[in-house]
Amino acid sequence: MSELGARRIAWAEEHMPILARLVKERQPQAPLRGQRVGMALHLEAKTARLALALQELGAEVAIAGSNPLSTQDAVAQALAQQGVHVHARHGASAEEYFGYLDAVLDHRPTLVIDDGGDLLTRLHLRRPELLENVRGAAEETTTGLVRLRAMHADGMLRVPVIAVNDAKMKHLFDNRFGTGQSVVEAIMGSTNLTIAGRYALVVGFGQCGKGVAQRLRGLGARVGVVDIDPVKLNEAWLDGYEVSTMAELAPKADIVVTVTGALRVVRREHLEKMRDGVLLANAGHFDVEIDKGALSDMCGAPEPARENVERYTAPDGRRFYLLGEGRLVNLAAGDGHPAEIMDLSFAVQALALLHLAAQPMAPGVHQFPESLDQEVARLSLEARGIGLEQETEEQARYRASWQEGTA
Ligand code: ADE
Repeated sequence: MSELGARRIAWAEEHMPILARLVKERQPQAPLRGQRVGMALHLEAKTARLALALQELGAEVAIAGSNPLSTQDAVAQALAQQGVHVHARHGASAEEYFGYLDAVLDHRPTLVIDDGGDLLTRLHLRRPELLENVRGAAEETTTGLVRLRAMHADGMLRVPVIAVNDAKMKHLFDNRFGTGQSVVEAIMGSTNLTIAGRYALVVGFGQCGKGVAQRLRGLGARVGVVDIDPVKLNEAWLDGYEVSTMAELAPKADIVVTVTGALRVVRREHLEKMRDGVLLANAGHFDVEIDKGALSDMCGAPEPARENVERYTAPDGRRFYLLGEGRLVNLAAGDGHPAEIMDLSFAVQALALLHLAAQPMAPGVHQFPESLDQEVARLSLEARGIGLEQETEEQARYRASWQEGTA
């Protein structure tokens, strides 16, 4: 057994009480018996705990990573030793990465968990003969759902997908608090530099960007925000951030964090105006937000500066430090979201799979049922010993009546 991997999984388990409770309550009925779950997720300790929980609920589980740099080999090894089919390696080439997804599909999954949509698109485009086995799928991220909804709009999606990302108990916590803490933690851990006193530019003010901006400000950075959505930029303005365009704010930045899900938001025209020593980090799902091609064109090949930090030097001597090769920094250069946060997200994942296993659903992207969202919220409070106020009968009557107004 990989001691290190096993210890990391045990630590995650100790801090994931909701998932533990779901397993304890449902394990006697083995609700996933006969199901083969195919997963593509960031293969670190919390994900391993989810895979084991699904196994404990009766499923046969096969897993690949959802990013070549987020797989932790010690965890992967310990997971394989506990009976899960693991197809992943840290630092996999693109060819290996897709080979691992194919290896998961070779297990002919009946249920799928995806993070980013690579496994489901591969299933539809390369292995359509396997679609008839699939009862349904659950997608973890905003980026994955954007892709799957586009697929559905093109009439190509052939399985039901539960939009796990959109569950309240997922995106309100994972995207904001999970990304906020883990991105800033990864930047600090990989650079060993101060946040305080630096000017940090957050590009993208969705739930994830909001969390990153909040944590950077909490650590003493001056924070600027850029977004293409006028409503979001108004929100950032009233939250007290400096708001404007890339052209205006990029030249001020000491740290740039992209969190948009969009293509090439940091381009050559911005890099040319940036300061010496700027730290460049991406927190979006794919490594397409910082134009690495433009960096290489301007600076040539990078050299390693520290673990997970590459130094690009421009002919005029300016240095750009790229973190985690421009892949999502919290997992490429860190451990991902905190365990308590992933407990919420993965409780949603587990309940989504139980829901799909219990009844057939039509192809398309489905909301996570509200009653299950409420269940995760209640279990979370119970696990922390937090009391919940109850509505009185009188209040319930008042809420339901339309006759009562001004006294
Ligand atoms: N750990 C496992 N999956 C993760 C995710 N999608 N984001 C952050 N940390 C994770």
